[in-house]
Amino acid sequence: MVEFDLKDYLSRRKQVVEEALGKIFPSASGLEKRVIEAARYSLFAGGKRLRPILCLAAAEVAGGDLRRVLPAACALEMIHTYSLIHDDLPAMDNDDYRRGVLTNHKVFGEAVAILAGDALLTEAFEYLASCAGEGLSPAKVLEAIRIAVKASGYRGMIGGQVIDLECENQKVSLATVEYMHIHKTGALLSASLEIGAILGGGDDSLKRSMRTYGHHMGLAFQITDDLLDVEGDPTLMGKTPGSDAAKNKMTYPALLGVIQSKSAAKEHVDSSLEALSGFGEAAEPLRAIARYLLVRRG
Ligand code: IPE
Ligand code: IPE
Ligand code: MG
Ligand code: MG
Ligand code: MG
Repeated sequence: MVEFDLKDYLSRRKQVVEEALGKIFPSASGLEKRVIEAARYSLFAGGKRLRPILCLAAAEVAGGDLRRVLPAACALEMIHTYSLIHDDLPAMDNDDYRRGVLTNHKVFGEAVAILAGDALLTEAFEYLASCAGEGLSPAKVLEAIRIAVKASGYRGMIGGQVIDLECENQKVSLATVEYMHIHKTGALLSASLEIGAILGGGDDSLKRSMRTYGHHMGLAFQITDDLLDVEGDPTLMGKTPGSDAAKNKMTYPALLGVIQSKSAAKEHVDSSLEALSGFGEAAEPLRAIARYLLVRRG
């Protein structure tokens, strides 16, 4: 079997997502143009586009038509970008760099940054809903919307983010940090996969496998994000390392140290791969993405 070329796969998929985002997201005009400009600034600042890529990869495993799933994939990137803009605000992580450029509030001010995040989150649901016009059944699209809502709101990312803030300067258990990671980061990653599976026409068993894969890869993803904050290269990360320690954030390395955190990440990658054991070559991108988490530098 020819070895799967992840670098090439990620760059081709990233290009598809960038092009689609470029088409669907409006250019800045009208009296409200400042907020569109701010949203575009963060949306097009780069980023790995991992959530839309996972969504498309899951749809691929389901054997679906990727063009129909693309608006949903873009919506997930918009939700993610909103979460980054708000995460960087002075009232939250107070960070100055994101995706290799100044954070949104540093350029547009806090008020516009908050509104740009709000706009990205809200508009995302229009794109998700628009999948029903792409020949997908309204029932499937509704299911996808409900999953996106759950993963983004207090039962998912927002819940995780508030735990993250409340844990600053506290002594908490590893179980609490794991719970926080599953919510603040794992939920949207997992939802991206599940939505891809649903809109791609997958059955319940595929959805379950995507959830299990997403649970473990999501944990591995946030553990490696925590590790990069300790030992990463700012140029490759596009953000400033040391941010977690400066705020005494509760992270895997803070609780377990670097070496044990690396083995925890490896264990979760192995478990994510197990969740894919019943699938053939179509799941190769998902396998390669999981393995890449252990060596990622950005
Ligand atoms: C950063 O996510 C925030 C976390 C959930 C850890 P990414 O590392 O996917 O950020 P981008 O999209 O590539 O900028
Ligand atoms: C944030 O986690 C997760 C989000 C929901 C945005 P972090 O605060 O660790 O993300 P970075 O390191 O700033 O990207
Ligand atoms: Mg944060
Ligand atoms: Mg942060
Ligand atoms: Mg981080």
